Amino acid sequence: MSRIFVTGRVPEVALEKLRAAHEVDAWTGPESISREELLTRVAGADAVVSLLTERIDAELLDVAGPQLKVIANVAVGYDNIDVPACTDRGVIATNTPGVLTEATADIALGLILSVTRRLGEGERLIRSGQPWKWGMFFLLGSSLHGKTLGIIGMGSIGQATARRAKAFGMEIVYQSRSALAAEVVAELGARRVDLDELLATSDVISLHCPYGPATHHLIGAEQLAAMKNSAYLINTARGPIIDEAAVATALQEGHIAGAGLDVFENEPDVHLRLLELDNVALVPHLGSATIETRTAMATLAADNALAVLGNEPPLTPINAR
Ligand code: DGY
Repeated sequence: MSRIFVTGRVPEVALEKLRAAHEVDAWTGPESISREELLTRVAGADAVVSLLTERIDAELLDVAGPQLKVIANVAVGYDNIDVPACTDRGVIATNTPGVLTEATADIALGLILSVTRRLGEGERLIRSGQPWKWGMFFLLGSSLHGKTLGIIGMGSIGQATARRAKAFGMEIVYQSRSALAAEVVAELGARRVDLDELLATSDVISLHCPYGPATHHLIGAEQLAAMKNSAYLINTARGPIIDEAAVATALQEGHIAGAGLDVFENEPDVHLRLLELDNVALVPHLGSATIETRTAMATLAADNALAVLGNEPPLTPINAR
C-alpha cells in the first residue's frame, strides 16, 4: 500500500478510487493549502495529486523524498510544475488533457459574447437601479457573423473554440506550431497565418497556447498596437501570456475595443485598472468549472497516480521517467 497526498479538495469519486488501494491524506481546508503545510504533508508520499494552485518545484520534490513516483496534476496546464526537476528525480508528472476541452471552449465563447454584446455592462446597469429603456443606439455591441476569429494555439481547446465560432458564422485564422490535419482544416475552413497577420486581421483574438518562457507576455503593448482598434482579446489559457498592464492601457486608450479574461497574471489578484473598465469581461478562472468536467479531471488524475503506483504506464504523462 502506497501513500498518496492530495493537495486540495477534489470530487469524492476520485478520492474513493485512491482510497480503495492506498493510504490517502488530503488537504480539505476551504482555502488553498499553505506552502508550509504542503511541505510538511508531502513528506514520505509516493504520489502527489496536485491542484494548479500548488507549486511543485525542486524543493517540494526533495522534501517529499526519493520514494516519490508521480505528480498527478488535476489540470491540463502544468506551469505550476517544474517538469525538468521531476524528470531529474525520476518522478513522472501527468496532466489532464482532453477532458476539459469542451468546457473551456464554452467559456471562451461565453467571454466573446459577453464582451462583444456588452452583457456584463447591461447586467451591471440593471442591477445598479439606474433608469434605462430600449433605444436605437442603446448599448450597441459588435456582431460576430462574418467576422474573423484569430486563434493562437490550435490544440484541442483552440479547435473546439473554432468549431463553436464557425457555428456563429465566423471565419477562422490560426497561429500554431504545427499545421492542422487536412480533415480539421476542411471541417473548420481554418487558415494558418503568422502572428503578424493574425494580429492585423482578426476581429476577435482568443488565446489557447500553453504558458511557458516562450509565451510569457506574448501579447504586450506592441502586439496590442498591431491589433485593430475594433478588435477584442480573449484569454482562457494562462494569465501571464498577456501583459495585463499593457492590456489595461490598450483598453483605456481605445487601441482595442474590449477584452474577456478568465485567467490573470497574479491570480487571484486582478490588475486594478481592469476593474474600473467597462469594456472588459472578467471571470475567475472558470474554464473547467463544471461538475462533469471537474469530476473527469480528478478521476483522470487519480487514474494516472494509480497507474504509476501499480507500475503501469500513466494515461496522460507530461514527461518520461
Ligand atoms: C487547466 O486545467 O489548466 C485549467 O486552467 C483548469 O481550470
